[in-house]
Amino acid sequence: MSGFDTIVTGGTIVTASDTFQADIGISDGRIVAIAEGLESAGTVIDASGKLVLPGGIDSHVHISQPSGPGVVMADDFDSATRAAAFGGNTTVMPFCLQQKGQSLREALTWYHGLADGNCHVDVSFHLILSDPTPHVLGQELPALVADGYSSVKVFMTYDGLKLSDREILETLTAAKTSGALVLVHAENDDAISFLRDRAEDAGDTAPKFHASTRPVPVEREATHRAISLAEIVDVPIMIVHVSNREAMEEIRRARERGRPVFGETCPQYLVLTAEDLDTAGFDGAKYVCSPPPRDTDSQIACWEGITTGVFDVFSSDHCPFRYEDVEGKKHPDGQKSFRWIPNGIPGVETRLPILFSEGVKKGRIDLQTFVALTATNHAKTYGLYPKKGTIAVGSDADIVLWDPDRKETIRQEILHHGADYTPYEGIAVTGWPVLTMVRGKVVVSDGVMAETGTGVHLQRGSPAAVSALADNV
Ligand code: URP
Ligand code: ZN
Ligand code: ZN
Repeated sequence: MSGFDTIVTGGTIVTASDTFQADIGISDGRIVAIAEGLESAGTVIDASGKLVLPGGIDSHVHISQPSGPGVVMADDFDSATRAAAFGGNTTVMPFCLQQKGQSLREALTWYHGLADGNCHVDVSFHLILSDPTPHVLGQELPALVADGYSSVKVFMTYDGLKLSDREILETLTAAKTSGALVLVHAENDDAISFLRDRAEDAGDTAPKFHASTRPVPVEREATHRAISLAEIVDVPIMIVHVSNREAMEEIRRARERGRPVFGETCPQYLVLTAEDLDTAGFDGAKYVCSPPPRDTDSQIACWEGITTGVFDVFSSDHCPFRYEDVEGKKHPDGQKSFRWIPNGIPGVETRLPILFSEGVKKGRIDLQTFVALTATNHAKTYGLYPKKGTIAVGSDADIVLWDPDRKETIRQEILHHGADYTPYEGIAVTGWPVLTMVRGKVVVSDGVMAETGTGVHLQRGSPAAVSALADNV
């Protein structure tokens, strides 16, 4: 076979099942050959000494999401997807937030207006349902799932977003019949509000009280409740951003009962703790996210969840706000009380290096698990596989060359996101992406943006776990 647009030669290909030496032939943006000794191509990319990985898929990122009065997210689609590409990602899945009273179509039109033409990696939207009216659930959601928006996040906390148990049951039911997977943010809102009021009454308003007013039982109880609600209507769910042992155990136990419950954890739960919120002055605000980072035992538990397969996906929950900014972490209200500090931290560019270094290099996980957790399982879970998430003939040529021995210290100055800090400042990692290719186009090479505007929106089919159950409706 000859006449490829591009070949990637001499590298070590890693998939979720195998590691092997071969060349990759690419034409029209897709992988058309995997074999030894490929030649005759327009472009030859020498991957000697590098790992050749499926591009990272980060299935949990927030971009340009409205976040309350006077608060502005630090990334738009240009900067977020640029950072994603530099971090070795070829697809990101941002959330399209339905505001109360808004139709889902209206919300999507707004997000597409921001995203289309401005992305450097592929994107595929999840929906956030904040107003699940009978019309939204009965008419709009099925139409949008048919159009390829086949996942929906619901919140059990946050004013303006949280749904009642009844609304969650109705959403789960509509998702089942229309073929969408529901992602759940599991924290008990009443418990948070009780603890928060008590803290404020006692004058405890510093950033560290964000963590102490969202303790583990808040997350464990809501995780258990979400799993129970999904069981009542017999539908799969994904519990996102799991931070600790007890919530992780809820997922494990549900699986043992045969429930189709998926789990996600994130870098902040492996390398940060609540002590990071307890730093001098207001600096703790840099680590305010929900659920909050916990303690060392919780980190160990999240690793256990990774190594035992409780967690299917490892995402960043990239949700960036600038620190030195009154529209960001230093919002005037946030300086009065932790209650108002915008929740979320940046991480789309550092997710892969952190997991590779802390996981693969430290012997906690093998390369196959790394690829599964950062790419393949995201594609399988959300209906993008095998177009995305693997290196196989017929798949999109979404490829990352990874230098497994390159040492870097994570620092704000080497990153490309719109935030003015990284919560991972100073963490030394081994392993770094050196080339990112999206559908056959080199987007980043050796630290330089090679091509812009490559990303397109991906319509998705029904996630497999949902289709399987929907057949029985
Ligand atoms: O604090 C966080 N995680 N902010 C992002 C929104 C969410 O709940 O995922
Ligand atoms: Zn969430
Ligand atoms: Zn999130």
